[in-house]
Amino acid sequence: MTLTVDQDIILKKINKISSHQELEKLRLEYLGKKGLIPQEMKLLSTLSIDEKKIKGQELNLLKQSIENAVKNQKSHIENTEINKRIQNEKIDVTLSPNLSNQGSIHPITQSIFNIINIFGNLNFSVESGPDIETDFNNFTALNIPAHHPAREMQDTFYIENKEGEKHVLRTHTSPVQVRTMIEKKPPIRIIVPGRTYRSDSDITHTPMFHQVEGLVVDEKSTMVDLKSTLVEFLKTYFEIENLKYRFRPSYFPFTEPSAEMDVAYTKKDNVIKIGEGDEWLEILGCGMVNPKVLENCKIDSTKYQGFAFGMGIERLSMLKYGIPDLRSFFELNYKWLEHYGFSVFDINSKSDI
Ligand code: PHE
Repeated sequence: MTLTVDQDIILKKINKISSHQELEKLRLEYLGKKGLIPQEMKLLSTLSIDEKKIKGQELNLLKQSIENAVKNQKSHIENTEINKRIQNEKIDVTLSPNLSNQGSIHPITQSIFNIINIFGNLNFSVESGPDIETDFNNFTALNIPAHHPAREMQDTFYIENKEGEKHVLRTHTSPVQVRTMIEKKPPIRIIVPGRTYRSDSDITHTPMFHQVEGLVVDEKSTMVDLKSTLVEFLKTYFEIENLKYRFRPSYFPFTEPSAEMDVAYTKKDNVIKIGEGDEWLEILGCGMVNPKVLENCKIDSTKYQGFAFGMGIERLSMLKYGIPDLRSFFELNYKWLEHYGFSVFDINSKSDI
């Protein structure tokens, strides 16, 4: 019996193959159940014991070297494919930009710009503060002392520094109220858009989200001013003149009395339309600044009073732009951004004001 396959020829053949299909075809031709090698193996039984030993070994070696060559060629093909892809996807950063394929503004950014525009027209200015806050600014000054249940209400990320001093990732934008009141004298009329953090993650919660907080402190602002400011804001933001809304009594340690504001909505084919209907959606928390908070920030509570409010920017954006899934805001999906994003030119357009 002589081998019908020549090792050199077949290895050369394998090395020339450039596609996975072709390689698989060749593998089956030689090593498959009905392939040449198994066929030769079957013929061994017709040989004498000595011949069988020699030919058997030869066949096994050949089988191994074909297997190895196929394996090597497979990774060679894979590497070539990857390199080709890298070449194709290479971006020449020195090229001038393709203006038809510009990046777009994230809906959260767009909402923040809209919110700033609207409150700007109501005479509010914008303040900001750090994401990492002291326990005092985030809780204590806001009338949330240690062991107060409100601390558990807001699943806090704690950070301990070298001195053992407790810091937190701010759970709301309210600590910027504290900073402003400590640094500035009334009258104060600010909004604070920014990132906030809570250790919570499911369909309706993400560990990082955005809030906008408002604070007014002067000698005469009342609950009526609070209500008219918020109603004016929501009507303008949602572009709905006859917005149906209600205020419900609520509780926050830093405001007294406190309320939550709901807007009416209807749901049709899973799409929420807000402004009218018999269902209610909570949209913000608010209240008159608790005199204890004013005192904690060294403001005379017998002379000054004011109101504060806070709301989630993701929720406002989902409702305004019809975005169904909260988590999609943070998935860095370019296609999503192309669909829900905004042109840079939309930011200061008239309809936003
Ligand atoms: N800080 C509150 C929260 O995060 C919202 C709020 C702000 C409520 C100001 C009332 C007044 O839930």
